[in-house]
Amino acid sequence: MTHILVVGGAGYIGSHMVKHLGALGCRVTTLDNLSGGFRDAVLHGAFIHGDLADKALLAQLFSSQRFDAVMHFASHIQVGESVLDPGKYYENNLVNTLNLLNAMRVARVHRFIFSSTAAIFGEPQSATIGEAHPKQPINPYGRSKLMVEQALADYDHAYGIKSVCLRYFNAAGADPEGQLGERHEPETHLIPLVLQAASGRRSHISVFGRDYDTPDGTCIRDYVHIADLCQAHWLALQTLMQGADSQAYNLGNGNGFSVQEVIEVARQVTGCKITVVDSPRRAGDPARLVAHSAAATQALGWRPQHAALETLVEHAWRWETRAR
Ligand code: UFG
Repeated sequence: MTHILVVGGAGYIGSHMVKHLGALGCRVTTLDNLSGGFRDAVLHGAFIHGDLADKALLAQLFSSQRFDAVMHFASHIQVGESVLDPGKYYENNLVNTLNLLNAMRVARVHRFIFSSTAAIFGEPQSATIGEAHPKQPINPYGRSKLMVEQALADYDHAYGIKSVCLRYFNAAGADPEGQLGERHEPETHLIPLVLQAASGRRSHISVFGRDYDTPDGTCIRDYVHIADLCQAHWLALQTLMQGADSQAYNLGNGNGFSVQEVIEVARQVTGCKITVVDSPRRAGDPARLVAHSAAATQALGWRPQHAALETLVEHAWRWETRAR
């Protein structure tokens, strides 16, 4: 049975992945420090409460168990915070990831799936962003992720660690079966915040800027369903298991939706009143970020099953309105 170590398996994307791997019959061990995740979100396999800064723990973990591959989701993800406190981002997203890779190297674990981000590209220079787009991140968050991608190329060359970097555009939505969803604290992402405004947990949604160079003036993003992201990880893992070389893929649907369009879809799906407050631009937001994901389609056979924004919002709404 394939044994996968999921680092950050108690977080938003990691917890959905743990469930997905469990359903596919894998043995799963989650390592998570619970700084942003929740123990009760880990629905399958073993759980270890620990931190990647703890090299002794990593050495013990990799010497006591055999893993076929590692999936790494544990990172800080707030762009604005990364500008104010870059040390926190380089320490966790870069240094701790190197600790993990070094422990893998010693234990001769040679397959690694890495959560990367559209933020490695910086300001878009084309309507859609493919893998070859220039990589000029404009904040420490994006730089910390790009540095890991660069380290991974070196670790492949020198140590034979094969990796797939998956650059998410806007991960969103929730487990279609309703068991898991987005639980960031604090929440900064658009879709959960809009739905909290619909359910009454928040008074309103702030729209950060209506003066962008887009048809309705609000920012455009490529929202990709969490279940489709999980499937991409699984397909990426299969390529590594079959001996493929290291790769990087951009993951999105190739469809952009504006902030205003997201709010409209949320109004339709929920049937609730959503109060909107126009606010100034948020620093560092590009007007439009849309993926060109043909490489993932061709090389991985990735076909998003939940590409409709309505479906994604429906699943997120079921999570927002769950019994607490
Ligand atoms: N937005 C609002 N109001 C809010 C929250 C967000 O108008 O209350 C807008 C943002 O300005 C942006 C869009 O909604 O235009 C989406 O914002 P999110 O915060 O949901 O997502 P981002 O596009 O900023 O961030 C995502 C990932 C990050 C990653 C980034 C890459 O969540 O981790 O893409 O650029 F770094």
